[in-house]
Amino acid sequence: MIASESNEVGVVGLGLMGSSIAATLLMQGYKVVALAPQASDLELAPRRIQHALEQSFKQGIHKHDVKQLESNVLYTKDYADLHNCFFISECVIENVAVKKTVYASIESSVSDNAIITTNTSAIPITILQETVARPERFLGMHWAEPAFTTPFLEITCGAKTDVDVAEKLYAIASKWGKEPTLLRKDIRGFITNRLMYAMFREGFNLVENGYASIEDIDRACRNDAGHWMTFCGMFRFMDLTGLQAYYHVIKDLFPTLSNQTETPKLIEAIAKEGGNGVANGRGFYKYSKEEAAAWEKAFEEFSYDINSLASKYPIDLVEKRLEKKQQADESI
Ligand SMILES: NC(=O)c1ccc[n+]([C@@H]2O[C@H](COP(=O)([O-])OP(=O)(O)OC[C@H]3O[C@@H](n4cnc5c(N)ncnc54)[C@H](O)[C@@H]3O)[C@@H](O)[C@H]2O)c1
Repeated sequence: MIASESNEVGVVGLGLMGSSIAATLLMQGYKVVALAPQASDLELAPRRIQHALEQSFKQGIHKHDVKQLESNVLYTKDYADLHNCFFISECVIENVAVKKTVYASIESSVSDNAIITTNTSAIPITILQETVARPERFLGMHWAEPAFTTPFLEITCGAKTDVDVAEKLYAIASKWGKEPTLLRKDIRGFITNRLMYAMFREGFNLVENGYASIEDIDRACRNDAGHWMTFCGMFRFMDLTGLQAYYHVIKDLFPTLSNQTETPKLIEAIAKEGGNGVANGRGFYKYSKEEAAAWEKAFEEFSYDINSLASKYPIDLVEKRLEKKQQADESI
């Protein structure tokens, strides 16, 4: 039994992702209880949420009055304010101990059958579920940043999650303009990070062993896989471009791919020196303040552009086109 869908949802942790998820839920017409576990969240989150609502309006993602949507947020530091929420998204730092403490506070405030989700990128749901009093209603719901510009949403069951709850959440999220995926059995990294990190590992392998430069690996990602990935997934891609060829290449290529388990030296050296990419100008590339700001701005613009392009080619593209054709034929 899970809580029936009400109009109130909660977001706990108002950093980068929490703000973005709160804005997305506001655009879907919910009242959002935006909980700041640290007072500093309240300095940035309202501005971030307002910016997301305004930009999304300009980009045609929603058609609501921004002031009206903003009036649907309750900013708070008090977990008791979550008591009416049927759904909670936890978005605090990627730290098991911190997350577990936050779940205890959430559970003491919400109804027994409210759905509690975590936005963890990579911690197994089964681990986070260990100390939760009602694990059957606890699951992973992994959003991508910025949450409002992409249909991506990854729902993951832990070992103790009730799959019926996951199915219900999957149905609810489908109404948010998302194309959710459901991982029925927990595995570290879930679906997308397993796919993405497999590619990262090979990229590190090629650079560290002198096969290609960082710049050329980035070019190859962008211009090959990047060209078709927003249109379709890997299995559809193989169908579209000749399954037989992939079958033959796999046999010879798989044995040569990297299966390194240690952290690559390339990222370790930068990370240990405190490099954090555009955030402080030191990453795989170097950035002046102006360059970092320009990359961030372009990334934001691109997220809107690609969302608008992708929405012309939804996952059920062919079903939709055939349905339209059938309706047109019937009306003749
Ligand atoms: N940034 C991304 O692109 C992205 C994408 C998908 C998932 N995630 C996941 O979302 C979660 C949040 O990431 P983010 O990028 O928004 O991080 P962030 O650093 O922007 O925000 C961190 C949040 O954690 C809270 N926090 C920090 N220390 C705390 C403590 N001791 N107790 C309680 N709360 C504390 C902060 O108040 C803040 O709200 C992480 O689990 C992350 O892995 C991030």
